[in-house]
Amino acid sequence: MSQQVVLTGIKPTGTPHLGNLVGAIQPAIDLSQDNDKRAFYFIADYHALTGLKDAQLLRDYTKQVAAAWIALGLDPTRVVFYRQSDVPEVFELNWILACFAPKGLMNRAHAYKAIVQHNEDNGESDVDAGVNMGLYTYPILMAADILLMQTRWVPVGGDQVQHVEIARDIAQYFNRQYQRAVFTLPEAMIDEHGAVIPGLDGRKMSKSYNNTIPIFGTSDELRKRVFRIATDSSRPGEPKDPETSTIFQLFRLVATTEQTLAFRQQFLAGIAWKDAKEQLFAVLDQLLTAPRERYRDLMSDPVAISDVFRYGAQEARDLAQETMRHVRLAIGQNLL
Ligand code: ADP
Ligand code: TRP
Repeated sequence: MSQQVVLTGIKPTGTPHLGNLVGAIQPAIDLSQDNDKRAFYFIADYHALTGLKDAQLLRDYTKQVAAAWIALGLDPTRVVFYRQSDVPEVFELNWILACFAPKGLMNRAHAYKAIVQHNEDNGESDVDAGVNMGLYTYPILMAADILLMQTRWVPVGGDQVQHVEIARDIAQYFNRQYQRAVFTLPEAMIDEHGAVIPGLDGRKMSKSYNNTIPIFGTSDELRKRVFRIATDSSRPGEPKDPETSTIFQLFRLVATTEQTLAFRQQFLAGIAWKDAKEQLFAVLDQLLTAPRERYRDLMSDPVAISDVFRYGAQEARDLAQETMRHVRLAIGQNLL
C-alpha cells in the first residue's frame, strides 16, 4: 500500500516556545516516524507575508524556525522539509483553486471574520479596514499547499481545522466538476492530548501574551523565565494543589512518570514555590541542553539550512509537478 501523505505548514512569525514544542513540534516529529506515512513539513513564509512585512525579520524567523525543528529532532532525510516560496507550483494551483472557491467561503473564514468583528466593535466605518487580499484569500493558499501534495492528513491546532475543511470543500468542488479524483480529500488531525500549555501568567502560552518560555535561550535566561511563573501566596510548608499550579502542569509535560509522581507528593507536602521552580528549571534545562547546542551550530552555519531547503524543494516539486499535470489536463489547459 502506498504511504499516505501527512503535511503541515509552519508560519515563521516568532521564535519557538515551549507551547509550540509540546503542542505542535513534538507531535509532528513523532508522526513523521510512522512508516505508513510520508511527511511533508514546510515553512509557510508566504502565509506569513500577509502580516509580516519586515524583510530581516522574515529571514530571521524562517531560519530560526527551520533550525528549531531540525535541532528538536526533525530528520530531513525522512521528512520532506521545504520552504513554501521555493515551490512555484503552489502559486499556480492557488489561482486555479481561487476559481473554485466561492467568495462566501472566504467571508466565513474566522481569521477574516475576527477582523471584521473587531472593526465593527470599534465603530470603524470600513469593516474591511486592515484586511489585505492575502489575508482574505489565506485559506485558498493553504488549500493549494495541502492539495498539491495529495495530502490525506493535516496535523494542526484547533484554530486551523476550519481551513482544512475549506481545502476539502474546494477539492470536492474541483473533483466533482471534472468527474475525476484529481485531489485526495484531506482531513485535519488533532493531537488527542490536545493540551493547551499554560504560560508564565497561567493563560495559554502564546507569543501574543508575552508569557512564553522560549526554547533556545541560554540556561540563565531559561531559569529567569521559570522564576517568573505566577504562583499563589501559599507559604513553604503549606500543602499546594498540583492541578492548579502552572509549575506542575509544565513539569508533567516534560518529566517522566516517576518524576511527576514524586513532584506531586512534594506539592502535597508543602514544597516551597522557589524549590518547585528550581526543579522545573532542572528538567527543562536537561531536556533542552542538547537541542540548544544543535540549534546554535545550525544558526552559525548559513549553508546547512539552505541545503536542507534545496533538497526538500526538489522532492516537493517532483510530487507537485505530477499533481499539476493532472490538474492541467483536467481543466483542459493542454492543447493536444
Ligand atoms: P502563538 O500562540 O505563540 O502565536 P502559534 O499560533 O504560532 O503560537 O502556534 C504554532 C503552533 O503551536 C500551533 O500548532 C499551535 O496549536 C501550537 N501552540 C502554540 N501555543 C500553544 C500552547 N500554549 N499550547 C499548545 N499548543 C500551542
Ligand atoms: N495556516 C497555518 C497556521 O497559521 C499554517 C499553514 C499554512 C498550514 N499552510 C498550511 C498548516 C497547510 C497546515 C497545512 O498555523
